[in-house]
Amino acid sequence: MNPSKVFGPGGWTPGNLKSLTGKTFVITGANAGAGFEATRTLLSKGAGVVMMNRNRDKSQTAIENLKQEFGSEANISFVRCDLAVLDSVREAATEILTQVPRIDALICNAAIAQVAKQEITVDGFESQLGVNHFAHFLLCGLLFDRIDASGGRIVVVGSNAYKMGKKRIQFADLNFDKNYTAWNSYAQSKLAQMMFAYESQRRIKTAGKRVQVYVCHPGASRTNLLQDTASRFNRILWSVLSRFIAQSAEKGAWPEVMCATEEGLKSERLYGPTRRSQTVGPIDECPLAPLALNEQEANKLWTLSEQKTSFTWSLQPV
Ligand SMILES: NC(=O)c1ccc[n+]([C@@H]2O[C@H](COP(=O)([O-])OP(=O)(O)OC[C@H]3O[C@@H](n4cnc5c(N)ncnc54)[C@H](OP(=O)(O)O)[C@@H]3O)[C@@H](O)[C@H]2O)c1
Repeated sequence: MNPSKVFGPGGWTPGNLKSLTGKTFVITGANAGAGFEATRTLLSKGAGVVMMNRNRDKSQTAIENLKQEFGSEANISFVRCDLAVLDSVREAATEILTQVPRIDALICNAAIAQVAKQEITVDGFESQLGVNHFAHFLLCGLLFDRIDASGGRIVVVGSNAYKMGKKRIQFADLNFDKNYTAWNSYAQSKLAQMMFAYESQRRIKTAGKRVQVYVCHPGASRTNLLQDTASRFNRILWSVLSRFIAQSAEKGAWPEVMCATEEGLKSERLYGPTRRSQTVGPIDECPLAPLALNEQEANKLWTLSEQKTSFTWSLQPV
């Protein structure tokens, strides 16, 4: 799909934001990186933000830092959610439904990447597919009715990696038991997240529901993404390379903030930085490879994801 320029030469920036007072955003993986920076930007406009993080201490520190910046009245809270454990996702969703009456956007931001050696979650998933795709698939399903009642959105943070690696979902060997590579398995997990997002757009339209789903990517951003998971070689390589080719985590957060707030965005689009192979630069529509829009593969993935998470969505295929 050929991208259009919607936001002018400078692209979308937080300068486009109006007051967000009264709105509530729920975001996964918000104690660090792009998720933390998105939280900062949303708070700066008066929004309430609920962070869904796995680590209590890091979350407490993040909250203290944010309250120092925005004052003790800043509307920021934390629900513990380990996306590597589906039971934790279920518990966290129950807590959200009890504590958060309105969800203007659920931002699926958290991820792990470039996991050096194959790791399997307690639910039996290759770790990146489990954390990045299956956990968010379940979380979105569990919170869907609340988001719909709020007229809210789901934002899926993808990656240009979706069109690298094997360029398909490896249904016959989802966990890469044969020929595991850090890159191919990460690429599959981001493709799965994006296929889910575009399939949900189609199903929501068919069902006449109100939820809007948008997909973005942060380009190349200086965050902690590879710190705990990648091989030593890849960590050193990225720490050097990122000084030259990547942008700040703050700019990396702009596409997800835009997708959570901006009016007039479209389905079947990918939003993110538009320069230097979509790694940096003004935020706008980016090229979207047709493989992410493959309906047959997306339906197969949806059915499989329902089985793997033991959760059945009310949304039906087109
Ligand atoms: N940085 C880039 O250049 C780049 C490029 C393309 C796409 N992305 C995407 O951008 C998004 C944000 O990543 P980032 O670059 O900001 O990385 P980051 O700095 O590593 O932040 C990732 C966040 O996800 C959390 N997380 C990881 N595993 C989790 C789990 N099991 N349960 C709950 N939370 C978990 C992390 O928590 P901990 O602090 O506890 O680890 C952290 O808060 C991701 O979707 C990533 O795929 C990033």
